[in-house]
Amino acid sequence: MSLPKLALTENTRTALGKTRAEAVVVGTVQGRDGVELAPGTEAVDEALGGTLAEVLRTLGATGKAEEIVKLPTLGKLPAGFVLAAGLGKPEADGTFGQDQVRRAAGASGRALAGTGRALTTLSAVDLQGAVEGTVLGAYSFTEYKSEPGDAPVSTMDVASPAEGSQREHRATLKAATAIAESVIIARDLINTPPNDLFPASFAERARKLAESAGLEFEVLDEKALKRKGFGGILGVGSGSSRPPRLLRIGYRGAKARTKVALVGKGITFDTGGISIKPAASMDNMTSDMSGAAAVLASVVLAAKLKYPLEVTAHIPLAENMPSGTSYRPGDVLTMYGGKTVEVLNTDAEGRLVLADAIVRAAEDDPDYLIETSTLTGAQIVALGTRTAGIMGSDTFRDRVAAIARATGEHGWAMPLPEELRGDLDSRLADLANITGHRWGGMLAAGVFLREFVADGLPWAHIDIAGPSYNTGSPWGYTGKGGTGVPVRTIAATLADIADNG
Ligand code: BES
Ligand code: MN
Ligand code: ZN
Repeated sequence: MSLPKLALTENTRTALGKTRAEAVVVGTVQGRDGVELAPGTEAVDEALGGTLAEVLRTLGATGKAEEIVKLPTLGKLPAGFVLAAGLGKPEADGTFGQDQVRRAAGASGRALAGTGRALTTLSAVDLQGAVEGTVLGAYSFTEYKSEPGDAPVSTMDVASPAEGSQREHRATLKAATAIAESVIIARDLINTPPNDLFPASFAERARKLAESAGLEFEVLDEKALKRKGFGGILGVGSGSSRPPRLLRIGYRGAKARTKVALVGKGITFDTGGISIKPAASMDNMTSDMSGAAAVLASVVLAAKLKYPLEVTAHIPLAENMPSGTSYRPGDVLTMYGGKTVEVLNTDAEGRLVLADAIVRAAEDDPDYLIETSTLTGAQIVALGTRTAGIMGSDTFRDRVAAIARATGEHGWAMPLPEELRGDLDSRLADLANITGHRWGGMLAAGVFLREFVADGLPWAHIDIAGPSYNTGSPWGYTGKGGTGVPVRTIAATLADIADNG
């Protein structure tokens, strides 16, 4: 996938005079009395004789979020057209949130497909939001197309904000680019179809990424998993001709005092197994490794941004298939660490592979555990397609949920009700993998995972069943398919832990 090349320019006024861009992106605002121009657009407006707002109004523009209006400059600017991107309403204090800028930039990134070079002024409102939004909005996955269609904008000049030094701007640009690139690493993995992405091929792609980022890399194959007793991963993987794996990818920052363990669900395809899913939309289960993709991308990012932390990603990989060798409803699995689980539904497989990986993660004695997974359809019923459910230990859960909202990834804290634990009691084993009812399905999965989390370890479980994969229309900086959620939440949480412990 080709990403736009980003180049920091001087302020808009200077940049505008000498730009070779074909398009200039300006922000518009949904003001009380109609469309207004966002900060940073003054020089563009002057070059057009102060008519920009009036022209936009005449064309019916309102400045609402993600609105895109293109207008020709008719020789008044070197660039042939202005692309106006709506930011929506300002906040109560008249400023704009970073995610408003990210969304507007994302819409502009999508609309600029086929353009060679553009100059954005949204960066004058928020540099980080403009960079991340532009790169993520421009992304499209065309690996499997004979005719890829319009290429993403190839060069994006980014006007410097009025405040701050060039040195600060360069650092912000670099970090924002690294973050967006990591989100794209996750998206590419999610969008790769399950005939090409299976446990062993995921492991090889992870190995390449880890090696080029200078990370420690360990892979357990099916023999090693058997020898060490990873009964959850082996059980789930038993129906597939493509055997399971467990990855451990480690980054050790200089002066690291805090250890963070990441765990991500890596079901490369989820048919449901013997408890098979209905055919309708089963293809979406190509995304059932989104958690794995996100934690892999996050540990690579931690290295790129040199967080002063130790970050270790644990990635259980399996394909959940029905066959003569599959695990069955009724089987009892002995999990890593010795707990036994009665399988009552082979489609509740995520929690089984995660339980093994969570127990393994605790052996490194981490200070925090962040686990993420496309775990339950109930997450989508409860919170919709764009808001992740965040469970875990109270304080850390709330901290991660607040960070998720600040990044624009829309997470919401959810409880782990005590009564659901009893509903997981098993006739045969230490616990069953499902309750006997439908109530609180997202929470029941979280309660199951809690049984495997070390006592006292601050942990967060992020259920991304909805937000990880966009089956609807593109919006903001999110195209169809893999979204890369919650890479930015994990990155921001790591940054927060690096700063505040
Ligand atoms: N991978 C699914 C959850 C899922 C559903 C993700 C829809 C994305 C979109 C998971 O393995 C699953 O099948 N969960 C079951 C659990 C049930 C059997 C208790 C579910 O949600 O139906
Ligand atoms: Mn399933
Ligand atoms: Zn699944």
